[in-house]
Amino acid sequence: MGWTIDDMPDLRGRIALVTGANSGLGLETTRALLRSGATVLMACRSRRKGEAARAELLELGSSGVDLLDLDLADLDSVDACCREVRSRYERLDLLINNAGLMAPPRLLSQQGHEMQFAVNHLGHFALTQALLPLMEGREQARVVTVTSGAQYFGAIAWDDLSGEKCYDRWKAYSQSKLANVMFALEFNQRLEQSGSTVRSLAAHPGLARTNLQPLSVASSGAWQEALAYRLMDPIFQSAAQGALPQLLAATSPSAKGGEHYGPSQFGGLRGAPKQQPVARAARSQEQRSRLWAISAELIQSRGATA
Ligand SMILES: NC(=O)c1ccc[n+]([C@@H]2O[C@H](COP(=O)([O-])OP(=O)(O)OC[C@H]3O[C@@H](n4cnc5c(N)ncnc54)[C@H](OP(=O)(O)O)[C@@H]3O)[C@@H](O)[C@H]2O)c1
Repeated sequence: MGWTIDDMPDLRGRIALVTGANSGLGLETTRALLRSGATVLMACRSRRKGEAARAELLELGSSGVDLLDLDLADLDSVDACCREVRSRYERLDLLINNAGLMAPPRLLSQQGHEMQFAVNHLGHFALTQALLPLMEGREQARVVTVTSGAQYFGAIAWDDLSGEKCYDRWKAYSQSKLANVMFALEFNQRLEQSGSTVRSLAAHPGLARTNLQPLSVASSGAWQEALAYRLMDPIFQSAAQGALPQLLAATSPSAKGGEHYGPSQFGGLRGAPKQQPVARAARSQEQRSRLWAISAELIQSRGATA
């Protein structure tokens, strides 16, 4: 049977922030955290979509759900969101870095970074650093960063992070998802070394039926991909099932810092969540600390990537 939301501990009194909480895995993660008694801050880029998702949850009887504006494609919006969290809450127990987009044509963020690197990785890097002080000292405080099976095909284009010289929308997605897991592991190591109570983990959903694939197809106009997704539909699991690895990583007392969870069947595409190996590049301490240094410099300088 494997781990399900019925295995989640009682989360009453705990505060969680979920990015991209209005849709797909973020919405299912929010729903499950609320069901276990947590207060959930839904961080959404669209106020309209956020309000609609919150209204749906409230209608189903959930309480303890708050809404925040967050556009991860703009580091100023990330700063403003963190200021808002600090003004409303004195502490935070769980941060789920879930929001993301997949394989659009080349777009740039507000600060001039390639959009997937900016939203999937850099915005979450900045958000996490800014919220960490609210989590320090909390028992079982965790940051879970959502990656993808695409990490296994990923490579960091060190001399062309923003795809200026050569942009391939799938390589850029894989790069951002590899960056997610590299960040999660490097962050955990730094937390342990500094004696922090906070732990960092990574999770991926396998293949889950959400808005990710339809939006990717709509933005790229790649009808062949739409057809491929339709043929692959029987393999896709529900968004609720896809959210289980990140929920396990965030809440299971048995999950530990530095671990990575994903589905256990069909080569990691679906099934019950289990601990999974990370991509080889993410095991490289040298690559992880190099990415960390570049990311820290980019959020500080706000300058465009190489
Ligand atoms: N579904 C899968 O099969 C699959 C597989 C591997 C990994 N993942 C990962 O799972 C995570 C969640 O995706 P999903 O499948 O649940 O897709 P989804 O239904 O499209 O949800 C993505 C969420 O991210 C938000 N988002 C996008 N750009 C943003 C920005 N600039 N600032 C703030 N939020 C932004 C979206 O907001 P809007 O609603 O306003 O667009 C939405 O709430 C992603 O990190 C994705 O890479 C999913």
